[in-house]
Amino acid sequence: MCGILGYIGEKQATQILVDGLRRLEYRGYDSSGVAVLSRNGLQIRRAVGKLAKLESLITHSPLQGHMGLGHTRWATHGAPSEVNAHPHIDSTGCIVVVHNGIIENYQILKEKLLKRRVQFKSDTDTEVVANLIGYYLKDGKSDPKSLKKNFLTAVKKALKDIRGTYALGIIHTKLPGLLVGARRDCPLIVGLGEGENFLASDVPAILSHTRDVVFLQEGDMAILSPNKVEFFDDRGRPVAKKPTKITWDPIQAEKAGYTHFMLKEIHEQSRVVEDTLLGRLNGKKGTVDLPEIRLTPKEVAQIPGVRFVACGTSWHAALVGSYLIEKYLKIPCQVEIASEFRYRSPVLAPGTLVVAVSQSGETADTLAAMRLAKKMGLKTLGIANVVGSTITREADSNILTHCGPEIGVASTKAFMGQLVALHLLMLYLGSVRGDLPKPKIKEMIRSLSHLSTWVTDAIKCEKEVIKIAEAYCRRTNFLYLGRNYNYPIAMEGALKLKEISYIHAEGYPAGEMKHGPIALIDENMPIVAIASKSHVYEKILSNIEEARSRGANVIAVANRGDKLVKQKASDVIYVPMVPDELSPMINVIPLQLLAYYIAVRRGCDVDQPRNLAKSVTVE
Ligand code: AGP
Repeated sequence: MCGILGYIGEKQATQILVDGLRRLEYRGYDSSGVAVLSRNGLQIRRAVGKLAKLESLITHSPLQGHMGLGHTRWATHGAPSEVNAHPHIDSTGCIVVVHNGIIENYQILKEKLLKRRVQFKSDTDTEVVANLIGYYLKDGKSDPKSLKKNFLTAVKKALKDIRGTYALGIIHTKLPGLLVGARRDCPLIVGLGEGENFLASDVPAILSHTRDVVFLQEGDMAILSPNKVEFFDDRGRPVAKKPTKITWDPIQAEKAGYTHFMLKEIHEQSRVVEDTLLGRLNGKKGTVDLPEIRLTPKEVAQIPGVRFVACGTSWHAALVGSYLIEKYLKIPCQVEIASEFRYRSPVLAPGTLVVAVSQSGETADTLAAMRLAKKMGLKTLGIANVVGSTITREADSNILTHCGPEIGVASTKAFMGQLVALHLLMLYLGSVRGDLPKPKIKEMIRSLSHLSTWVTDAIKCEKEVIKIAEAYCRRTNFLYLGRNYNYPIAMEGALKLKEISYIHAEGYPAGEMKHGPIALIDENMPIVAIASKSHVYEKILSNIEEARSRGANVIAVANRGDKLVKQKASDVIYVPMVPDELSPMINVIPLQLLAYYIAVRRGCDVDQPRNLAKSVTVE
């Protein structure tokens, strides 16, 4: 996830771009850049790190001009570095591009262009877009009239070749009155002003200049000049667009109208599923494409076991991953709390794959555990969200989750991304080793392809959750129960509640209830039981009965249409029925929402809970 911005008008562009980027920094902040065009030509400034770095660069070396592009980056391809920071320019020096999204087929396109002697400077997928347009344009020196037409044709041709997702801002250095925007599966808006127009990833970036906004649709293209904007649909036909009047205040706008980042991030999970799967599933062949795993097929075949190291929410995700791998691949797995692993002299068989799971890629204990494994001569794999983080730099291979920056301290969408990545890992190992029959892999790929729709469907339980949160928000203890894949989800639900509402909560394997926690159960201890349909469904129903008979109120998470659970639990939150191995991704949603609404009801600081830090870089 990145933020893009474009300005064309009468004012100086630089300050407008920098101010707008500040409002888009929540979308990514590992590097940023601006390109400003004037009669004297193009000027570019790029800096690694937060926007403040770019600002100080501009203070020392200002740029002048009345149109330009800005970008704040969340790296997906290529480490955060100045050369990988946007804007990117093609090898002719005429085409300037900022991009949010992922060009899925960039490698193939890049190879084609390299064969035609087109030169590349960065490791990004975006540079391919600039070079492709430049390549199609070929004649960058034609007279201004035909240049405009040729440029627009080249843009359209390039967009046809691209597979993947994009929101793009594009300029040609010889066409100072023209700014092009295009989108597919990434947000892009056009802001309409007086003698000036704007292009942006999101409303907050331009809200101080205009409240008249056009939300571009899939495949739309917009051509902006200072006094006019022309819109074209996905088939290139001119279309008229009616602007929407934005009434949000700037802070609300940054959260896209949500009251907290956490709620926004919960609602982003369907998009996270799509982005993390993007370009990785090959349903026809029945394969999972993870070229980033740098293990030979022989090494994969000889893996004697997998050892996961992680902390907190990431540890819960790893636990789900281990259940999947043991069930489907029969490879022995162990999941370790990283801080224990690093200090307890662990013994690992040679060839064991050590998988470090971490949203931030910076958690001190996870990093130390991974380093210890490397010292033992073992191969390491990072599953991380932040590109360029220490874990992604030091691991032998990485699977990146494409969640975008997670701002809420309590992890939600990053957990979803981790679950998806672990699923991909299981399928990848299974297909390379031949542990899973092809038809089974194809069936699981089909299910995964449907996951984002199920996630969207699951969020519909929100209204019911709000009512339940209202009823239970004054309780002081909760017990969460789950079995099999949903035991880690019970722990995750309890952790969410503890973190943001400061209510004591325990997550337990339901079968362990009788071995101790049952002593705590009375009418003051609500039980949250995950009771989706699976081979352990009846077992969990029995646990619900046992809790009810001791006076507890039971909130069950169950599949739509399940009437039996309604007779047994005090409250039921219904979610869609999905294949059992995907149920963690669905069942966690009501638990995230429950924690969220209870915390809000108690007046807690949801996005920045007391004593917690987003990234725990000390032990
Ligand atoms: C999650 O809600 C927590 N804030 C916390 O448990 C977190 O998952 C843990 O600190 C690990 O962080 P990481 O994924 O960045 O390594």
